[in-house]
Amino acid sequence: MTTAIPRHMQRDRFAPVPETQAARDEDALPQIRTAIGTGARLVTRYADVREVLGDAERFSNAGLPPLPTPEGEQEEDRRAGNLLATDPPEHTRLRRLLTGEFTVKRIRRLEPRITEIVDDHLDAMAAAGPPADLVSAFALPVPSLVICELLGVPYADRDEFQSRSTRQIDLSLTLEERGRVAAESRAYMGELVDRAWSAPGDDMLGMLIREHGDDLARNELIGIASLLLIAGHETTANMLGLGTLALLRAPDQLARVRDEPGAVAPAVEELLRYLSVVHSGVPRLVRHDTTVGGRPVAAGELLVLSLPAANRDPATVDHPDDLDVTRQIAPHVAFGHGVHHCLGAPLARAEMAVAFPALLRRFPDLALGIPFDEVEFRSATVVHGLRALPVTW
Ligand code: HEM
Repeated sequence: MTTAIPRHMQRDRFAPVPETQAARDEDALPQIRTAIGTGARLVTRYADVREVLGDAERFSNAGLPPLPTPEGEQEEDRRAGNLLATDPPEHTRLRRLLTGEFTVKRIRRLEPRITEIVDDHLDAMAAAGPPADLVSAFALPVPSLVICELLGVPYADRDEFQSRSTRQIDLSLTLEERGRVAAESRAYMGELVDRAWSAPGDDMLGMLIREHGDDLARNELIGIASLLLIAGHETTANMLGLGTLALLRAPDQLARVRDEPGAVAPAVEELLRYLSVVHSGVPRLVRHDTTVGGRPVAAGELLVLSLPAANRDPATVDHPDDLDVTRQIAPHVAFGHGVHHCLGAPLARAEMAVAFPALLRRFPDLALGIPFDEVEFRSATVVHGLRALPVTW
């Protein structure tokens, strides 16, 4: 079955989808069709999105409709270890194994290595000379290499796993194709897990095996590692590409990020809010008849939460459609909220805080290599992004 791209994802470059804005401003939970072809109610107000994400008791992940399971695979293998397909207490058990690896303190120790990886890629860009495609030269490889080293995935396999990650979240493919690609990703990770089991390395896979090998099933470890690999590079890569483009369109703001170290952290938060790259709608299943923002929703109904709409809610942020890196940090749900709040948020923030100023300082006259209208956005995917970002300097 081919999936039609749902209207709530058809963003025009940075602009939010007018229908999601209208639903938010009318204070409605309209019926929509999701990327997997089912009906759902669209939740758009910031307060409503927080209410749903903050209550795993009333709104579930475990019962969400799955992608089709390809022949030869077991449904339970598909879900095992996938934090986003579990509810507490199962979710709590899995998440606890990983939280120590992603604390702000732990990530701070990685910063020198992140800086080295960023500098190496900037050196290579400088050596090759302009023009360059910033996505393939910088935005994609930096977070990919970071997550590979962290997890213990060979970076030499990147073409293979990056192509699979991109297809897994490409909504223009059929559900069956996406299910098949997800199965291939798990098979690949299965080989790495088996290798790590016989000789655990000094990385996250090795740590999980050494410290939790007795409590974790093989398919759970595969699920955890597969989620980290895809979540660890698709999202940050798209933030780096789109974020650079947004800053190139706002030269005064770009100059602040380049020249004022104190401006970087608030700029990263503003870019997260403004870009809201996870834009397919975060799904939750209503467990029993209840209300969202005072409006009734029924047991079994699927809710789709629009993070881009919530992050531009005028009830929360002044002039929400403007990018303004100088504003007081505005509250946002770009990393979600509640028990499933992004595990990798400290890592993603550290990568962006190193990468944006380093790029802008190395190439102070960085410029778009083609007219803005010709930049190809990649909207038909779970994560908003760019196909390429031609730049010159
Ligand atoms: C969850 C966004 C980077 C790993 C989430 C969720 C969002 C999100 C919105 C919540 C989904 C839901 O509630 O259904 C982002 C953005 C990123 C980013 C915008 C980059 C700017 C990362 C990185 C990693 C990561 C670098 C890993 C190294 C995860 C994991 C979850 C998650 C494992 C599931 C957590 C759970 O269910 O408990 N992310 N993410 N993310 N993210 Fe991220």
